Amino acid sequence: MKALILVGGFGTRLRPLTLSVPKPLVDFANKPMILHQIEALKPVGVTEVILAINYRPEVMLNFFKEFEEKLGVKITCSQEMETMGTAGPLALARDMLVDGSGEPFFVLNSDVVSEYRFAELIAFHNSHGGEATIMVTKVDEPSKYGVVVMEEETGRVERFVEKPKIFVGNKINAGIYLLNPSVLDRIELKPTSIEKEIFPKIASDQRLYAMVLPGFWMDIGQPRDYITGLRLYLDSLRKNSPSKLSKGTHVLGNVLVHESAIIGDGCLIGPDVAVGPGCVIEPGVRLSRCSIMKGVKIKKHACISNSIIGWHSTVGQWARIDNMTILGEDVHVGDEVYTNGGVVLPHKEIKSNILKPEIVM
Ligand code: GDD
Ligand code: MG
Repeated sequence: MKALILVGGFGTRLRPLTLSVPKPLVDFANKPMILHQIEALKPVGVTEVILAINYRPEVMLNFFKEFEEKLGVKITCSQEMETMGTAGPLALARDMLVDGSGEPFFVLNSDVVSEYRFAELIAFHNSHGGEATIMVTKVDEPSKYGVVVMEEETGRVERFVEKPKIFVGNKINAGIYLLNPSVLDRIELKPTSIEKEIFPKIASDQRLYAMVLPGFWMDIGQPRDYITGLRLYLDSLRKNSPSKLSKGTHVLGNVLVHESAIIGDGCLIGPDVAVGPGCVIEPGVRLSRCSIMKGVKIKKHACISNSIIGWHSTVGQWARIDNMTILGEDVHVGDEVYTNGGVVLPHKEIKSNILKPEIVM
């Protein structure tokens, strides 16, 4: 089977991290978010993943040179010259997707994490005889997603409304689809939104079905949701593969520490923390609800919560980083500095306190 991952878009909501790498390569729980998806696609028989790209394709392709072999999945690229939206890229990649077998193919938004459940999606798709199946999940705040109204018993979608202004329902599009090749006949080769233009039509033809995704789900394309997604992901690791989580007196709740990271004496880490490869966490550091990316150094007695520390940054001793502070790549925070929120662009040095959330250029 084949899968197409929508990796376009500029990832503006995840700046400053996306100033260094395209959104799908931003680390989540110690590996690029897109790898979580590809690793889950492989066991259900996906042999080729097509990346629908409109932004810095060379970065993605260089990255995958290293991983293609390890993953055992062929990675190809379909590049847009202009942004084609969420459906246009399917028309563009038509010849790559269709191989005459008539098999359905997966389409994924690149910024969603969940337990995926691709095998169950295939089984459901094969059972209903419709043209397309989308995964849906329940959320409290549906207005920032695509909302689905469906017949509970059969899963048939009656309406699909992208980012509704008034309440339609609380089941939302999870950004994970299985589509028959015939869906491609509905998409013209031009910028098109699958959510606004294609799904509503398939639904009105009564050929669109939805499966409620069991387990957790999150779109991690915004900092706050990224941190929430990390909590949900670590929770699901606790249930499904607890041996991957850290243990010890310095650990509180669910914590993932890369084997190459060094943790000093007297640290207290957790809950809901990921510490990436090569990180050095000096003695007495306190970390909670945060993501510490590859190569970061946190000096003695620093305290970090509800924040993301980008690749190869350093945090000075006794510094306190809080309230959705996002440090880009290679940022250096001085000793005893306090940051209360704030987005710090790559390669900056922070010598004085950031007292309210702001962008530091
Ligand atoms: N190739 C390509 N070209 N990809 C694109 C383009 C484009 O022009 N525009 C967006 N994408 C990709 C993004 O990289 C992302 O993987 C996916 O399409 C969805 O775009 P987002 O910008 O993340 O959309 P959203 O989060 O506001 O809404 C979408 O996701 C929700 C679930 O997370 C919609 O699909 C909603 O219906 C859905 O509920
Ligand atoms: Mg998104």
